[in-house]
Amino acid sequence: MVVYLDNAATTWPKPAEVIEAVKDCLENKGANPGRGGHRLSLEAGHVLLETRERIATLFGIPDPLRVIFTLNATDAINIGLRGVLSPGDHVVTTSMEHNAAARPLYYLAKEGVEVTWVQADSSGLVDPDDIKKSLRPNTKMIFLNHASNVCGTVQPAIEVGQIAREAGVIFFLDAAQSAGYLDIKVDDLKVDLMAFPGHKGLYGPQGTGGLYVGPGVNLRPLRVGGTGSSSEDLEQPPILPDLLESGTPNTPGIAGLGAGIKYLLGKGVARLRAQTEKLLDTLLNGLAEIPKVKVIGPARERERVPVVSFLVEGLDPSEVAFVLDKVYNIAVRPGLHCAPLAHKTLGTFPAGTVRASLSSMNTESDIEALLNAITQICQEIAR
Ligand SMILES: Cc1ncc(COP(=O)(O)O)c(C=O)c1O
Repeated sequence: MVVYLDNAATTWPKPAEVIEAVKDCLENKGANPGRGGHRLSLEAGHVLLETRERIATLFGIPDPLRVIFTLNATDAINIGLRGVLSPGDHVVTTSMEHNAAARPLYYLAKEGVEVTWVQADSSGLVDPDDIKKSLRPNTKMIFLNHASNVCGTVQPAIEVGQIAREAGVIFFLDAAQSAGYLDIKVDDLKVDLMAFPGHKGLYGPQGTGGLYVGPGVNLRPLRVGGTGSSSEDLEQPPILPDLLESGTPNTPGIAGLGAGIKYLLGKGVARLRAQTEKLLDTLLNGLAEIPKVKVIGPARERERVPVVSFLVEGLDPSEVAFVLDKVYNIAVRPGLHCAPLAHKTLGTFPAGTVRASLSSMNTESDIEALLNAITQICQEIAR
């Protein structure tokens, strides 16, 4: 059996309920939602509504229609950034961003959007004061990666949200690594836009994600097209979610996502997190005892998500991951994790790190297997 420790990329395995919901949707609710008045279309539409409502419950969103379905977090980030920013606008972001945001911002900068990259410290932590000091009269948005996909650092989102609110700028949170793990309520964090994947901490299938659009944020749609509503008009319907959702949605995936969130809400976010935190403790304590291993990222006592980056002295991260896969059947991810700026910040560019990322589906024996394998690899290179 493979030991899967690449949950920051995609959580796997999925709960049985998720697989069952996808199957049930394909078998029994296979029509196109919102495209017909017949029973099957209405049932498919109900799948979408139910999942929207569950997402709203999870994140404390008062109006479920402000949840937009997307392909993944990257799609949601692009829709949010391109929907707001125009040449001449200024956006403040950080050196811990994933390429899902860094690349769209790089291209927007070429088009005349001004971008300030606030430098995080060597543990990946951003000082909210540095964000505040970067604000300008033309600042339109603060974009923040809530939790690092490289080393697990959690940013002070409450403070940053407060700064954004006081300055009257849009606070856009990338919750790709925190959604489903940290307790996120959009009003507590004063979030105006929030991108989240369905396939990581919400236990849904790949091809799912979402964007929360707060009241007062008007987005230009990135894509326009058929919505099944106001079809007589060539103008895109201005109402949400239709404004930002064109074309046939991933109904089976969204059915699975709904089941994933039901699973999460049923078990309890806090309970599942406590379970994963125990594994995280075992992993961090175990790695600290292996002399040739260096863990990268925040101090042990800081809040973090279960994403652990480490180096093995004398070996390239890709060699370590290769041996873990081929010899020990353990799946981790080496390299830059689509976050070169974060690795520059942490001092691990260009080789990157070995990343082990956990979910509540992991067990103590998975962690033991990784620790034993790393210990043996270290003993091998000492010979
Ligand atoms: C912090 C962060 N943002 C964005 C993304 C992109 O997510 P997706 O793969 O759902 O597009 C990831 C993916 O790992 C991520 O870790």
